[in-house]
Amino acid sequence: MKLVIAGSRPLSGVVRVGGAKNAALKIMAASLLAEGVCRLSNVPRIADVDTMVGVLRGLGARVGLRPDGSMSIDPSGVEHCEPPEELVKEMRASIQVMGPLLARLGHVRARQPGGCNIGPRPIDLHLKGFAALGASITEERGYVSVRAQRLKGAEILLDIPSVGATENIMMAACLAEGTTVIRNAAREPEIVDQQNFLVRLGAKVRGAGTDTIRIEGVESLGSTAYAVIPDRIEAGTFMVAAAMTGGTARVENVIVEHVQALIAKLREAGAEVAEGGSYVVVRGPERLRAVSIRTLPYPGFPTDMQPQFVAAMSVANGTSIVTETIFPNRFRYTEELRRMGANVRVEGRVAVVQGVPALSGAHVEAPDLRGGAALILGALVSDGPTELAGVHHIDRGYEDLPGKLAKLGAAIERVEASECQVG
Ligand code: UD1
Repeated sequence: MKLVIAGSRPLSGVVRVGGAKNAALKIMAASLLAEGVCRLSNVPRIADVDTMVGVLRGLGARVGLRPDGSMSIDPSGVEHCEPPEELVKEMRASIQVMGPLLARLGHVRARQPGGCNIGPRPIDLHLKGFAALGASITEERGYVSVRAQRLKGAEILLDIPSVGATENIMMAACLAEGTTVIRNAAREPEIVDQQNFLVRLGAKVRGAGTDTIRIEGVESLGSTAYAVIPDRIEAGTFMVAAAMTGGTARVENVIVEHVQALIAKLREAGAEVAEGGSYVVVRGPERLRAVSIRTLPYPGFPTDMQPQFVAAMSVANGTSIVTETIFPNRFRYTEELRRMGANVRVEGRVAVVQGVPALSGAHVEAPDLRGGAALILGALVSDGPTELAGVHHIDRGYEDLPGKLAKLGAAIERVEASECQVG
């Protein structure tokens, strides 16, 4: 499967954002803590969700799926303490079942997730948190085994405000004895969503969205129905697409507060952004001005929007300095962007982007999820067609990104690799 994209068209129209990948995956994992059936809605139809369904089923949960994206999860049959190895390898978010399994079964064993395409991503902070809650940890030959009869509440100070570690520890602490306080917690909106879900199950959690989260352990949890928040990164991708093509898009189903860092940068770059109750309208200028960004934990500029923003800066007027402070190897896609004529120089954690008037279509390959999205955006402002391979990376985390961009007027289609004729 490849994408063939013809460039040089302003996007315009209305697009609706789906459920947040990084909230849905974690809430699915948190469902393992429930007693009874949870019903989740606004779950995005993406490959990573399918992978998490596989993980939950592999553990013994019953998962029912409806075509509208809602699902039911019944964890009553969960007795395996080891998530399927090949799925953990495929998707790092699988390790988010560790906290709930540890709390529920008293034991979890998992393959240590290795590095991934955006660099090394250890789980030491997750494990340090479990250890602080009284678990014993053994690591051997690439596997980690975590055990605790019953976890005990503790004060935990995270070295880095890691999203995954905050969530894993928060889930585990819900059934611990006593109170847990997580300091220097990550403040991402997806963590607030997970807290809201846990509270609906009967957990006593507060503080998510600030850097201190307090969890009073309870004996058991119930079940609930829950709608996942909209995906701020999907929203941001459409906002950047409209701005850089000089188009106008109304992006609906947005929690406007969640995209403020991006709105500020788009305005600085010369785009007009109107904020509604649950939507934004973005109007791009003839050509964006170069602005610099630095990725930071929320509410700073999200690392998951860095590649798409670099694509926009590659055709902006002037030079932009992009500093990646979260994942050191997150510039791999820039090699592909250069094949399309972008003038991007990467030195360590910094990319220097010298804007050019237009890119040119080329044969490129998505190296990872957000890098792939950036290449699609680059193709939209190219002279001549682009043929993009590695589409599975994009389908992992975007609900039909090509289809939604096509509705905004992009000339983009999926073709079987054998049908490709571009170039
Ligand atoms: C989550 C998101 C990802 C987003 C990232 C940062 C999901 C599925 N993924 O990833 O899309 O880019 O937040 O907003 O929700 N670290 C350690 N030790 C640990 C854990 C993390 O050193 O035990 C480091 C990482 O290497 C990285 C930094 O902390 O440099 C942030 O990682 P983290 O916030 O944990 O990201 P993820 O939860 O993996």
